[in-house]
Amino acid sequence: MMAAAKALSSVLLLLLLVAVATPEAAAATITKRDFPPGFIFGTGSSAYQIEGAVAEDGRKPSIWDTFTHSGHSVDGSNADVTADQYHKYKEDVKLLSDMGVDAYRFSIAWPRLIPDGRGAVNPKGLEYYNNLIDELLAHGIQPHVTIYHFDFPQALQDEYNGMLSRKFIDDYTAYAEVCFKNFGDRVKYWSTVNEPNIEPIGGYDQGILPPRRCSFPFGALSCDNGNSTTEPYIVAHHLLLAHASAASLYKEKYQAKQGGKIGLTLLGWWYEPATQTPEDIAAAERMNDFHVGWYMHPLVHGDYPPVMRKNVGSRLPSFTGEELKRVLGSFDFVGFNHYIAVYVKADLSKLDDELRDYMGDAAVQYDMPFLKKNQLLFGLKSDFMTSTPWALKKMLEHLQLKYKNPIVMIHENGAASIADPSAGNAPDDEFRSQYLQDYIEATLQSSRNGSNVQGYFVWSFLDVFEYLFGYRMGFGLYGVDFNSEERTRYQRHSAKWFTSFLRGGELRPVALPGQAYSQ
Ligand SMILES: *[C@@H]1O[C@H](CO)[C@@H](O)[C@H](O)[C@H]1NC(C)=O
Ligand SMILES: *[C@@H]1O[C@H](CO)[C@@H](O)[C@H](O)[C@H]1NC(C)=O
Repeated sequence: MMAAAKALSSVLLLLLLVAVATPEAAAATITKRDFPPGFIFGTGSSAYQIEGAVAEDGRKPSIWDTFTHSGHSVDGSNADVTADQYHKYKEDVKLLSDMGVDAYRFSIAWPRLIPDGRGAVNPKGLEYYNNLIDELLAHGIQPHVTIYHFDFPQALQDEYNGMLSRKFIDDYTAYAEVCFKNFGDRVKYWSTVNEPNIEPIGGYDQGILPPRRCSFPFGALSCDNGNSTTEPYIVAHHLLLAHASAASLYKEKYQAKQGGKIGLTLLGWWYEPATQTPEDIAAAERMNDFHVGWYMHPLVHGDYPPVMRKNVGSRLPSFTGEELKRVLGSFDFVGFNHYIAVYVKADLSKLDDELRDYMGDAAVQYDMPFLKKNQLLFGLKSDFMTSTPWALKKMLEHLQLKYKNPIVMIHENGAASIADPSAGNAPDDEFRSQYLQDYIEATLQSSRNGSNVQGYFVWSFLDVFEYLFGYRMGFGLYGVDFNSEERTRYQRHSAKWFTSFLRGGELRPVALPGQAYSQ
């Protein structure tokens, strides 16, 4: 795994490095009852990662189907079947109900609902999401729906280079309206786009994710097409405008009648200075501005952060007055997917020995094209296994102070484990129970300290095809036996822990049909 990550030499994949945290038994010291009434607990997934049935009932390919079918995923796998939720949603909703979650976060597959990206709506697609939503509601579970979660229709990529074109904004808005019109009577929480602050980097800067565009010397690959110094900003700009367009449509035409809330979901890594020198402190602040401020600044204050305007210059697109009006305040809540702390060093050549030992192989040079060459370098210590709940607290406090304390939903938080089919997909995940407890506790402390955080969703409900890891790593409360045709679900310790947490400390774990386990 380490060799593969090095070969690709990308920051995203470097997250694979670093050893497994030592597991410790979880003691349920807090429960859902400690939270304010109305605080929403759930777990989540996304369409391409969990559904399978990629060529069934009229669904057409997304750029992720193209990418995986060309052998580009990290383990050569694809999500043609994955956890097969398309056929097993009833069984899955029963599991969610038994756990006692308030909500299930899932996404709608654009190429399932509108297979060509624009135009005809697929009745079978409508039927599937209607069924899923109704099944959830019948079990008292709120559907929290992401409208677009990376599975961009291949047809639109081919037609006009996807999100590089402004045509994307209109097609996305029309697609979102199909969702509001058909599902909005029952869906009360909409997220327009998932992680628009990382998709342009993976797909248009580093080029390691679809549609694999980048340019020398920035991309991890030698891409045939792309321009790493300009395209990430254009794509992000269009994603922000697409969000604002759909959100304003919802607010003008649907919100009063349907009574839902709309927001978007950002990747919320926390950038921490590696040392307390002014240079490192400034570098970490710059990273937070470039990554989270990229969206939060225009949404809350209008325009991109001043440091981005200064460093990126004319490569950073401008807003028209009309556009800014639409963007500003165009959210009821902001979702954050939080996993890791990233240590930032202004100049990696000045890493002292202690820090070099600490960061080891994970100290990387990430020459972001929007910064002057070698201006910003950073190292990663944290991965998707190490628990750093203080970073979540810092991120929430940052939002509180810098962005007018928005309503925050933690849309993803969770821990990875290395998949091991021979061990029943590693059912003994006490470390994950401890991780969840630590982060939920941090969330509670932030809430008590004035943060407007109002929801927390574990990533993920099941083991699924992971965008960065294929099937090498799983985050699931439930494991899935990907070798069995039935895609058998396995209840993990963390599922039992979460059940106990949600049910107020009363441990009432649930056995799957024909599966016994001991407590
Ligand atoms: C990227 O676009 C900029 C601005 O148009 C241009 O100056 C630069 O040469 C382009 N780079 C590549 C690799 O095409
Ligand atoms: C609570 O919030 C205040 C103001 O944002 C901050 O200074 C303090 O560090 C926070 N304390 C904790 C425990 O998060």
